[in-house]
This record gives sequence, C-alpha cells and structure tokens, in this order.
Amino acid sequence: MPGPVGSAALLDPALLSAGADLAAMPKLINESRQAGLFKATLIAAPARVPLLSTGPTEFWAYNGSLPGPLIEVTEGDNVEITLVNQLTQPTTIHWHGLPVPPGQDGNPHDAVAPGQSHTYRFTLPVGCAGSYWYHPHPHLLAAEQVYRGMAGGFIVRARQDPLAQIPERSLILSDLKLDARGQIAPNDSDDWMNGREGQFVLTNGQNRPVLRFSPQGRERWRVWNANSARYLRLQLPGSTLTLVGTDGGLLEKPQAGLEEYLLAPGQRAEFIVDAGQRRDLAKLVSAVYDRGKMGDVAPEHPIAILSVDFSAVSASALPPLPDKLVVIPDLGKPVAHKRVVFSESMSMRNGQHEMKFLVNGRQYDMNRIDLKSRAGDVEVWEIANQADMDHPFHLHGTQFQVLSRELDGEAIAVPYKAWHDTVNLKSGETVRIKTVQHWPGIRMFHCHILEHEAAGMMGQLKVI
Ligand code: C2O
Ligand code: CU
Repeated sequence: MPGPVGSAALLDPALLSAGADLAAMPKLINESRQAGLFKATLIAAPARVPLLSTGPTEFWAYNGSLPGPLIEVTEGDNVEITLVNQLTQPTTIHWHGLPVPPGQDGNPHDAVAPGQSHTYRFTLPVGCAGSYWYHPHPHLLAAEQVYRGMAGGFIVRARQDPLAQIPERSLILSDLKLDARGQIAPNDSDDWMNGREGQFVLTNGQNRPVLRFSPQGRERWRVWNANSARYLRLQLPGSTLTLVGTDGGLLEKPQAGLEEYLLAPGQRAEFIVDAGQRRDLAKLVSAVYDRGKMGDVAPEHPIAILSVDFSAVSASALPPLPDKLVVIPDLGKPVAHKRVVFSESMSMRNGQHEMKFLVNGRQYDMNRIDLKSRAGDVEVWEIANQADMDHPFHLHGTQFQVLSRELDGEAIAVPYKAWHDTVNLKSGETVRIKTVQHWPGIRMFHCHILEHEAAGMMGQLKVI
C-alpha cells in the first residue's frame, strides 16, 4: 500500500509479520478484595514492543501493554483507578462514553503533570452495561498519545446479560503508522488535516492475526474503533453480521443480515457471528469508504483486519437468538434545544494553507463556554456537518439516542433505537439526538478524528 503523499518514508508493510493466532488480551487485575469495588493502577510510560525482527518499537502505553489492559467491571461497581504519569508530558484518562461525573472524566482541564499521580473514582450506575474505552485527553496532546499506543477497552457487564451464554471476543482495532526504521511516525501535515491513517490496523496489538472460531459455531464480537481517523467499513464476505449492540450497550432486538457496518473513530459495536455451514478461512476486512479527504491523497484500498478460521466448527444447528435483548427507555419530553455546526475553513499562514476545524464558527478555547445545560434536562441537539469531510460527533458524560437524520435535506431512516456517544456525520448531514446530562460541570463535545479535535473542532458545555 503506498504511503500518504508528502510524508516521510514508511515501513514496507510486508516487514511486519502477520498471521499469528489471536492472543488473549491482557486484563487489568482488580487489586481490591472488597465486593463491588474495582481498584487498580494504570502507569502511562514509554514501552518497547517487539513487533519487528530488527528491534523493538517504542510506544507510549498503559502498563506496558498494547492496547492498554482490558478493564472488566459489573454495572453498579465502584471504580478506583490510579493513573501514574511517567511520560514527559501531561496526560489524563478519559473514560470515553461512561456516565462519570465531570471531575472524574479526565478532560483537558484536569491534566496530570509528568511524575504525578491521580486517582479517578466513580460508581457505574446499573443500566450502563456496554463496551467503552479509555484514552488520554490532555489539551492538544491527545491525538499523539493515542496514536503512540495509549488506549484500552472498558467493558461494563450487565448483572443479567441475555447473550451471556455465547463465547465472546473483544477486538480493539487501532491504526499504526511506522516509519522506515519501524518507529512510530509523527503526524505530517496531511495527517493533521485529514486525520492520521497508517499502513496497519492492529487487532489487540497484533497485525492481521487469525481468530480460531469457536467449535460451537457462534461468537459475540465486541469491536472498538480506536483509530485516530480511519473509518472501518466492516465486512466478513460470505457471512452476514448480526448487530446486537452499539456504544452504550445492547439494542432492543438483534439486527440480522447486515452485509457491512460502518464503525467511525471512537465508536464500538457488538455483533453475533454465526459460522453457518462454512468451515473455511475467511477475512474480516474494512472496505473502501470515501470520507471526503482533502488534498492529494493516495487512492484507498480495502484493508484486511484479521482472518477467521472456521475449520474447527462442529455445531450444525444453532438456536435462534433471543428476540428481545433489553428495553431502551425513551428519555422523555425535551425541554431544551441546542445546535452544533461543524465546519472547516482554509486560510493562509506563513505562505502555507492552513485548515481550521470549527464548532459553531469557532476553534476550541479552554476558557470559553460554548453551550449551557441544566443537569437532568432532556435536550434535543441538532448537529449539522457543513464541512466537506465526514466528522464523528462525540459528547462526553452520557449516552444519547439518535432521533432523525437528514442528508442534503433528505430524511434518512433511523431503523432502531440504540445508545451512542459518538455518531458519524457525512458532509451535508444533520443528526438530531436526545440526551441528558446528569451532573453539574464542564463537558466536551468534539469531532473524534483526534487531529481535528486538536485543531479546534471541540466545544464546551457547562452543565449547571
Ligand atoms: Cu474519546 Cu473526548 O473523547
Ligand atoms: Cu473531524
């Protein structure tokens, strides 16, 4: 695959070995003996990972692991996680998608200085079971910290899960861009404009591994798009996917027969995969998706993410999935409305074109409040993408439901209720969401292409 135009020489993708068995993901060990308390430490520090035979690649990682260790808790649990910052720059841990108070959410106002520690404490309400993630969110530095390896999965398990009997996988997909020496390539100007895309998409830190499918013939996959900017248009040719969950947990009913599913940066999805009659070696791929990149970019190619080996499947018939999974309540009658507009503007600076990424016409300012809400108020937000590229909108602190969408003035169906914290907007698209904030404090909302967030496509909501 050719490297992005104008960037430094990149590692030949053939040099990174592929095809090892998908390994079990390291888990964050609970150090507490108290029931209902999850207590642990995450150390953010440089880590050398042996990816290439020519020598280790230096990442920035949590507890030396790539991706960060998987956190698994149960709804209702108290969580106490200490971040130790052994980097040479400030960092935070943001609990992406989780309903935690603003002061515990690791936003840019609460950076932890190099050499310092900070303990995050929160209680996970019953009803928030789902697949979340954690990643840094310091002012201007989040994109680099994430592309250097800092991100991990955070599963909140339900006390009663209608799909608990099905063997489960966590697949954290993260983009990797290596320079010719096998080290993390810094972002170039195209990356800062379009968002970074490297020559690899790792699964749980492995390059194109092989997933040996369960003999039982059915698996539940939780999939994370932990990429800075790469969209995943997931397809498993020869099989269809059954969507059972989104960012904030299960759907009301399984959505069977999907030929593909678009997972934007920051989003998660849960699928049921059935082997059916197949016993072959299949490929999970990301098909080409045109998100409107600007400038002289290299043509896109489909990307192989992993292989699925169905050869050990012995089951011939599978029971039907439950028809009802959970109830997604309506949030109630809206009492306030908000409007958010994403746009881009091109200007000249020192003889160079500079792209600005704007929310309601302005770049992010830490010292400015852009919108105000009242805790507990049901609100409808209308988000409009007037930019030329797709931008995934993310709101901190809560999950929302999509009410309606329109592309260039034409309505697009919203086929099922679902919990989201991130929703993609194509150029010319408008999405209406219903949402509630639960605590007073400051919340971010932004484009989850992390380079755009750094370039100013972020606003602040003050909840009173
Ligand atoms: Cu996943 Cu404000 O971030
Ligand atoms: Cu964006």
